[in-house]
Amino acid sequence: MIEGALRSIVEEVRPEALKGQVATYIPELGKQSPELLGVAQVSMQGDLWAAGDAETPFTMQSISKVVSLGLALTELGEERVFSRVGVDPTADPFNSIMRLEMVAPHRPQNPLINAGAIVTLSLLPYGDGVERFLAVRALARRLLGNPDLDADEAVYLSEKQTSDRNRALAYFLRSVGALEGDIEDLLDSYFRQCSLRVTAKDLAVLGVTLASGGVNPFTGERVLAPRVCRILRALMATCGLYDGSGEFAVRVGFPAKSGVGGGIVAAVPMRYGIGVFGPALDPKGNSLGGVRILERLSQELSLRVL
Ligand code: DON
Repeated sequence: MIEGALRSIVEEVRPEALKGQVATYIPELGKQSPELLGVAQVSMQGDLWAAGDAETPFTMQSISKVVSLGLALTELGEERVFSRVGVDPTADPFNSIMRLEMVAPHRPQNPLINAGAIVTLSLLPYGDGVERFLAVRALARRLLGNPDLDADEAVYLSEKQTSDRNRALAYFLRSVGALEGDIEDLLDSYFRQCSLRVTAKDLAVLGVTLASGGVNPFTGERVLAPRVCRILRALMATCGLYDGSGEFAVRVGFPAKSGVGGGIVAAVPMRYGIGVFGPALDPKGNSLGGVRILERLSQELSLRVL
């Protein structure tokens, strides 16, 4: 029944998804086909259903911010992390710089916008950018149950060579004392984690691990504490689709996090993880077809929790 629902929803959404635009500000992402569309769903018992392009690789981009925040909360505790980055949604785009100057003490508003993710990453107690990235990758591998998970070298280099905006954010943040250290080294780990290569199936496993309170149903491993998962789900529900989060909560009604690679991970608490992939994005940088698939699935399977 679920497999049939996934298949018919992908076919139903396909024409509409094409109205979106593939991200081009990271040149390598511009090479993705806007026609790709896929979904995978995993239950807490480890049943897996999929339809469409569920095994096509793409980069996590902002979805990786959930992993690095999970790592920071585990290693440093919530008090330390949230003394440096807030927990409130913004009505601004994911890479906005405006509020950083307006609001003192220059604490980015939440850890899922670029500025907040960069500050969160800077707090991790590792020697250099490569070590920091390896720690994020190690946690991602356990959350997704994929020991081969790795960065896409071409996408990583493409963002590293062009990301004036993230450099501007990071240098500004350092100038006001919101973070310390070597900016290029810090951004190197940020670009590497954003370029972690996954499939919709991988994201569905990440989603169900977060939905279950931290246990990966395929490996049986407890990867995160229930309290950390609860914080991650709360931030996904309020800030996961940036300035599109309110509309997503109304239309779909469960926690999710998007990335400009076209992926969205969703966690339906104590029920399912869902991964969707459709690189044609809406104007807010969220997968247009992906959001629509999640909305239709939420209706068909009564998944709304918000
Ligand atoms: O920093 C950036 O701009 C990208 N690496 C990630 C942004 C992103 O995925 C926003 N999400 N929809």
